[in-house]
Amino acid sequence: MGEKKPRHMTLNRFLVQKQQKHSEATGELTAVIDHIGKVGKIISNYMRRAALEGLTGLTGTVNVQGENVKKLDEIGNSAFVEAFEYVDMVGAIISEEMDRPFVISSESRKEKYAVLIDPIDGSSNLDVDCIVGSIFSIRRLRGSVEESILQEGTDQAAAGYIMYGMSTILVYSAGDGVHSFVLDELIGEFVLDHENIRMPEQGKIVSANFGNYRGWGSPAREFADSLASEKRAYALRYSGALVADLHQILHQGGIYFYPEDAKRPEGKLRLMYECAPLAMIAEQAGGAATTGTTRIMDIRPDKVHQRVPFAIGSKYEIGKYEKFYRRS
Ligand code: F6P
Repeated sequence: MGEKKPRHMTLNRFLVQKQQKHSEATGELTAVIDHIGKVGKIISNYMRRAALEGLTGLTGTVNVQGENVKKLDEIGNSAFVEAFEYVDMVGAIISEEMDRPFVISSESRKEKYAVLIDPIDGSSNLDVDCIVGSIFSIRRLRGSVEESILQEGTDQAAAGYIMYGMSTILVYSAGDGVHSFVLDELIGEFVLDHENIRMPEQGKIVSANFGNYRGWGSPAREFADSLASEKRAYALRYSGALVADLHQILHQGGIYFYPEDAKRPEGKLRLMYECAPLAMIAEQAGGAATTGTTRIMDIRPDKVHQRVPFAIGSKYEIGKYEKFYRRS
C-alpha cells in the first residue's frame, strides 16, 4: 500500500510538482496525462448516466478485433479522439476500436506523443452496469507513427488506467512510482489518493477465467492446480474487467492470468494498449508481468493490435507461474 495523502492535491498540481523536479521536463507529458484525466471525467459521467439514458447495448457494428461494438465503446473512443484532436503535443491516437492509427497532422503541431488506448476495458460488463475501465499508454513520436510505437514496453513515457467503479480512480506512472487519484465529483477534480503504491511481494488474490481451464496449455493448468497446495489460501476474484482485477492485486497482491488456449493460441489480450501499459504499472509498483516465458515490457511488437498470453501481479506468484512454463 502507498502512503495515504491529504485530500487536496489535485492531479494537475501533483503532475506539475513532479515536473518541477525534472529540470529537462517541458510540461508536455504533464499536459497529456492531465488531458487523459479530463477524458476520464467525461467517460465517468457517461457511465454514471448509462443505465438511466439507455446507453447500454450494441451499436450493431463489429470492431477490428471482431468484437461487437457497444454504444459505450464508441462513446469512450470518441471521447479520447475528440479530446486529443486539439492537443498540440499529440500526433497520433491508437485505439482498440480503430483499425489504423488516427494521425493528427498540422504544420503548427509539435507531434511529440502518441496516445494508445483501450477506451473501455471489460466491455462485456457494460450491459449489466458492472465495473469497467480505460487503459492508456503514452509513447514519444520519433519518425513515423508505426516506427515509433512498435517498440518495447520499456519505451513508454507513461501509462495507466482509469477505473469506473464505486468511485472513479485514475492510476498512472511516468516512471517514478505509481500514484492513484480519486475523482471528487463535487469539485470535478481527481485528487491524490495514494502516492507510490507498492504491490505486496506475495498476495492472496487469483484472478483468471477458470471456464477456459480445459483449453489452457499444461503450464497454466499446472500452475492453477498448484495453488491448492500452497500454505496460503488464495481467494478467487474475477470481474471480467482486467483493470478492476489488477487494481485489487495492486493493493493486495496476487496474480491475474489470461494464458494462450486452444481457441486463442496467441492469447486474448492486446499488447500495446492493455498488457504493456499495465505491465509498466505493475513493475513500477514492485510487481511483474510476463507471457510465461518473456517479460511483457521486453516484447517488441510487430503489429499494432498484437495479442499476447499474459500474467501480471506480485513477484512471488509471477515467478511461480514462469517456473511452470520453464519446466514445459
Ligand atoms: O478484452 C479484455 C477483457 O475484457 C479483460 O478486461 C478481461 O479480463 C477479459 O477480457 C475477459 O475475458 P473473458 O470474458 O474471456 O474472461
